Amino acid sequence: MAIFDVPLSELRERGSIKWRRFEPDVLPLFVAEMDARLAPAVRDRLEEALRLGDTGYPELPTYQEAMADYARWQWGWELDPSDATLATDVVTGMRDALEAVSEPGDGVVINPPIYPPFRGVAHDRRIVEVPMRDGRLDLNALEIAFHRDRPAAYLLCSPHNPVGTVHTREELERIAELADRHDVAVISDEIHAPLAGAAHVPYLDVAGADNAVVVTSASKSFNLAALKAGLIIGDVGIRSRLRPMVSDGASYFGVLAHSAALTGGRGWLAEAADEIAANKVFFAEQLAEHLPQLSYVPSDGTYLAWLDCAPLGLANPGEHFHRVGRVRFNFGAEFAPRATSFVRVNLATSRDIIAEAVRRMAASVQHRDG
Ligand SMILES: Cc1ncc(COP(=O)(O)O)c(C=O)c1O
Repeated sequence: MAIFDVPLSELRERGSIKWRRFEPDVLPLFVAEMDARLAPAVRDRLEEALRLGDTGYPELPTYQEAMADYARWQWGWELDPSDATLATDVVTGMRDALEAVSEPGDGVVINPPIYPPFRGVAHDRRIVEVPMRDGRLDLNALEIAFHRDRPAAYLLCSPHNPVGTVHTREELERIAELADRHDVAVISDEIHAPLAGAAHVPYLDVAGADNAVVVTSASKSFNLAALKAGLIIGDVGIRSRLRPMVSDGASYFGVLAHSAALTGGRGWLAEAADEIAANKVFFAEQLAEHLPQLSYVPSDGTYLAWLDCAPLGLANPGEHFHRVGRVRFNFGAEFAPRATSFVRVNLATSRDIIAEAVRRMAASVQHRDG
């Protein structure tokens, strides 16, 4: 049984944002939730805790140890569990880390198009935009921004959401060199990393990556957003400046679920990654068949497709697909104000749903005056 073959009727019983935000006839492929069957290792661990009435607070460094073991196994990254601080979740941990390295008004670099909460994380800082260029980090522009804008911090998204880029070791080494030269703290969001497998390079595993933290969790790769927990890993100087009680937001069930995923869910993740890779190819084929004006080249990381709909000539393709096609994606402008011709498509779902989404897109284009 495939991980992403959950029938639509069953998905519609779910109460999370994906299935409740929009009208019931709209097919949702927007927010980064997976239409997945839960990894058995996670389900078993939570069921055991429920059976025991084990519903209190976390105590042991269970999550830190599970992440260290996973990092060694997957990336050969030697991570000391005592270098990882428990956080509420990744977005909150990014904010916590930013507060530890900067003051209101300080410059913070981001790479649009970017996961929208990055702007929220830096809302009271001076946001410095260094756009992605042809789907990759623009390291020359980053160097200019570090020199010209004197930022205190750089919020790196690795792998990158929404573009799906997996940064190379060479790119990350260059970032480390620039950050060192210009005294910029690097805060690397690696929440999509486990799904990228061996292709991912942890920022802290790169030569020269000091004055940096990785903020991560098992949440995206194993679909555990309901079970809050995250980790802030790395520089002790940064972690010693974290606000008090930063670890109190993670729930015990979050810790249990994320740890079980990283330890016992590796087979599940490999299967999920294979299915997602096949879904990306399938999505590209479906577009070629039904909407040949558009083209999508499968990305290396994430289960998200960043699709340029400019050839359709629609003022706001995301709004059009929703209103006329009854299929919902994230709108490009959420990620970069000027990316109005893009939509972000969530491919962590079944082939039936991907095929139906493309069918609805194509039909809506034929009824563009609808
Ligand atoms: C890059 C990135 N960071 C963080 C998050 C959210 O993480 P959390 O729910 O742990 O705050 C997401 C969710 O899609 C994401 O894509």
